[in-house]
Amino acid sequence: MRRREFLITSSVVGTNVLLGSQLVKSTGNLVAAEGGQRMAFTQPPLPYPMDALRPFLSEEQVAFHYGKHHAAYFRNLNNLVEGKPEAQLSLRELVIQAPAGPVFNNAAQAWNHSFYWDCLSPKGGGEPAGALGAAIARDFGSFAEFRAAMSDAGVKLFGSGWAWLAADKDGKLKILALSNAETPLKLGLEPVLTIDVWEHAYYIDYRHERAKYVEAFWGYVNWEFVAKCYAAATG
Ligand SMILES: [Fe+2]
Repeated sequence: MRRREFLITSSVVGTNVLLGSQLVKSTGNLVAAEGGQRMAFTQPPLPYPMDALRPFLSEEQVAFHYGKHHAAYFRNLNNLVEGKPEAQLSLRELVIQAPAGPVFNNAAQAWNHSFYWDCLSPKGGGEPAGALGAAIARDFGSFAEFRAAMSDAGVKLFGSGWAWLAADKDGKLKILALSNAETPLKLGLEPVLTIDVWEHAYYIDYRHERAKYVEAFWGYVNWEFVAKCYAAATG
């Protein structure tokens, strides 16, 4: 969705004004309303209230993670690409195309976090069925083995980064532990599920105990969203 789709004309002053980002519920290139400035990329709304993921994540934890860290990546990215051709790309296109450096780091972190929030739900947890459940059993032996392997990837990742479940073009699933802002999109793989294991994702609630955060994560996985991602990757 391109930002020009959100241009409206003010009948009062006869000039173009921009609809506020709070009216926009989709991801991609949108318009931010603050100060009437044109912004290439807008942080999507959190798909649930800030306190909806308790007791896995407190309202304070989500408020800092979404409202400070995630928001800062969008703000930094918009400052970096203002007036440049990159601002016309979708966020996903920019992540795939950007060379290593600040634009990639902020674009990927913006995209990765939006994906992370979508991977979670207050009504999440359990195990996936259908094609995704079958693929997990095929590629990892069982759901329990997959969960243990992905947890291990997240817990043991040195420093900051993300544990990913991703699919290749044949639908084969892979677990990746990627540092900093790295994403399967850069490797030609389709992200299916992710766990943010940057310390900022859990430190308020879990302090240094990343393993406890990762263990609790599984009770809130939005398998419906994850299954859609897998279907899109294989469709
Ligand atoms: Fe994060």
